[in-house]
This record gives sequence, C-alpha cells and structure tokens, in this order.
Amino acid sequence: MSTFAVVDLGSRKLVVAIARPGREGTLEVLAVQRENSRGMGRGVIKNLREVKQALKAAIEMAEKDSDSVVEDIYLNLSGVNADILTALGKTVVTGEYITRKEILRAIETAKRITIPQHREIIHVMPTKYIVDDQEVEEPEGMFGAVLQVQVQIITHLLTVVKNFENCVEGAGFYPKEMVLNQVADIYALVTKEDRELGVMLIDIGAETTDVALILQNEIHRIFSYEIGGKDFTSDIAIGLNTSMKEAERIKVKYARLFSEGEEELIKVPLMDGGERNITSNELYSIIFPRAEQLFTWIREDIERAGWELRATSGIILTGGGAMLSGLKDFTSEFFKTMVRVAGPVNLNNILNLDQEYTSPEYSTFVGLLKYAQERERSNGRGGQSIFPSIKNVFKNIFKKNPRG
Ligand SMILES: Nc1ncnc2c1ncn2[C@@H]1O[C@H](COP(=O)(O)OP(=O)(O)OP(=O)(O)O)[C@@H](O)[C@H]1O
Ligand SMILES: [Mg+2]
Repeated sequence: MSTFAVVDLGSRKLVVAIARPGREGTLEVLAVQRENSRGMGRGVIKNLREVKQALKAAIEMAEKDSDSVVEDIYLNLSGVNADILTALGKTVVTGEYITRKEILRAIETAKRITIPQHREIIHVMPTKYIVDDQEVEEPEGMFGAVLQVQVQIITHLLTVVKNFENCVEGAGFYPKEMVLNQVADIYALVTKEDRELGVMLIDIGAETTDVALILQNEIHRIFSYEIGGKDFTSDIAIGLNTSMKEAERIKVKYARLFSEGEEELIKVPLMDGGERNITSNELYSIIFPRAEQLFTWIREDIERAGWELRATSGIILTGGGAMLSGLKDFTSEFFKTMVRVAGPVNLNNILNLDQEYTSPEYSTFVGLLKYAQERERSNGRGGQSIFPSIKNVFKNIFKKNPRG
C-alpha cells in the first residue's frame, strides 16, 4: 500500500500531511507541513499560479521531511456551490447470490441520474440497500432477484473541480480524490450517537462556513456561506480604524460574544499612528451583528429544510472561527439547543500526529486523513462508507485511474 498526501487547502491556511497505511488498520503520519495559504479566497482558487506554487512547495517540504515521494493527493473542496441529492439504482441479480460486482452495477445505475452539465459528481455514498423489497445492511452474498440501492450524490461546479485538479496536476501530483469539507469534517468529528440522533455541524473557517445536517446515518442537507472568521476581523478593523493585523490580534485576545461581565479597557493602535482605548462592550457591539447575520442565514436554511434541532443531539461547532470566545453559549442561545465546540476526535488509529491537531481548526485536515485511511484500506474491496452501517464498495466507480 502506498504513501499519499492529504491537503487541506483553506482560505487562510494550507496544511499538508504525508501518510501511509500502517499495521492493523492504522495510519502512519510521516510529515506535516503548515503554511499560510496563498491565492485562495472564499474557498476557491483566485490565483492559480500562487496556489500551485504554495501547494508544490508545501508538499515538497513534507516529502523532504519524511524522506518520501508522493503522487496521490486527497484534496478538500469548500462546500460553496456544492449540492447533494438522492438517487436510486437497481440491478437484476444474475446468479442466486448477490456479488460485489452487482452491487457496483446497481450503484452505477444510480449515477445515471441527470446531473446538469456544469456540475461534476465528487461523492457517491450508498445509504440503503434493498433486496427484493427488504432493506439490508450488506447485500453481498445474499440470496435475491433484484438489488436496489439508494445513494447520496454530492456534486460540485465543474469549473471548481477542474481548477483544483489542474492545480494539483500542474504542481506535479495526481488528484486522487476531492473531498467535500463537510464530508471530511464528518469523519473527524461526528460520533455514532450524533449520526443516529441527528446533529448540525458548523465549520467556521476564515472566509467560508460549511454546514451539514446529519440524521439517521445520512447527510440530510449541506449549506455553505461565504462568511467566516476573517469577516469578524475586518469588521473590527473598519469599526476601530485599525489594521487587519491589529484587528486579528484584538479579536483573538479580547473579543467575546457576550456583553455581561467585567468591562475591560483595550488599547487600539489607529491607522493614523494614534491610539485609543475602547471597552470590551464596544468590541462586542462590533462583532455581534456578524454572528447574528451568519446564524440567521443558517436558521433560514434549516427551517426551509424542515429541520427540527430540538429533536437532535444539537450542534457541533468547529473550524478556527469556532474558537471565538463566547460563541458556544451564543450559538446555544440562538438556536435553543445543545452546542459543543470540538476538534477532531478518535485519533487512536492515526499514529504520530501531534496533540495540537486536535484543535477545531484542524478538523477538515484530520478528517481528510481519516477519509484517506478508509479509502486506502478498502482499496476498492469495500471498507466502510461515511456511515459505518453501510458498506462502501464503490472506490472503482470514481473517475479515473492513477497515472502510470
Ligand atoms: N482563538 C480564536 N478566536 C477567534 N477566532 C479565531 C481564533 N483562532 C483562530 N480564529 C479564526 O479562525 C479563522 C481561521 O479558521 P480556519 O483555519 O478553520 O480557516 P481555513 O480553513 O483556512 O478557511 P476556510 O475553511 O474558510 O477556507 C481565522 O479567521 C481566525 O481569525
Ligand atoms: Mg477550512
């Protein structure tokens, strides 16, 4: 089994890991490289040359560190403009017992659903198998005449996918799989209980926010917004007439999403070289509208989806932006439900990963590692899918084969 790289290409940071499958289903991390990302904006490529250079440099550095060479890259995609739909596939069983080939064929037929020309499929996830009108977990080897499969298909804009592929290929690597941020986050954070009871996952990045509604072992809906932690920073910069650098420092150190408590005086260096003092309540009044705007958008979308948060295990907040002081209680108050701020969990099978990567800003990154681990382990033979109750057998139906 081969060595590969995962890349979390965010609007603010670029994190690369080189890893290889280890013993007993573990994943051995050989090197990690973190840089500020360049050429990205709101989750997409704004400057191809810059992103390519940054990517190449970071991967090569990790190669050097680990004394290895990689070709295959697992890369994340922002959820902005992604779409999810459900499709049904069906095949007649030729022998008496269902074979893996027939399962793949059924899934293939589900993929025939009409997808607009400007979109491309990035994930195909079986969520339900039905053998002669009876729902089963794992159809392989079962007796039956007709196999039906329900799949969730995630598509993305062709231009977005192509630009990322181009970028990876241009840097000299092979884009093995593109993984939606929400899918990676689910791998990193969502527990079995969450999946069953239902949960809303919110990843607040620097310039985008990705949301997934998960219920009964399925991704029910995905939403993404072009808003993130950096917008809080620019609100502070504009509101206080200070630089983005100072605004970021002030945000991380002093900003909090509650107005009670002791008033603190904060010294703010101004753009004209002067200085002034503001209170923590003034700072609160600058960031509050942005949080309210983001959550109002999310609330409108979940209401349109007919989603009842109260009946679920609540909300998981993640991404660097989730570390804003007071956000947990603010969110809980806003949505009237339980909230936890979390980073990646269950890292027992990932070897040599430093403790710092359990921070919320690394959820997508670690989720990519776990996703890749699963895909490499199954090696086309059917490990487990995004939701372990359903076997994942569809690796080979992904677009293409590695170079060479
Ligand atoms: N302690 C903190 N308090 C408040 N905000 C924080 C804190 N730490 C990090 N952030 C914010 O988190 C954001 C970066 O988050 P993250 O690293 O998840 O972004 P990204 O993945 O690069 O971006 P995206 O997912 O939008 O493409 C920045 O806006 C930063 O200001
Ligand atoms: Mg991110």
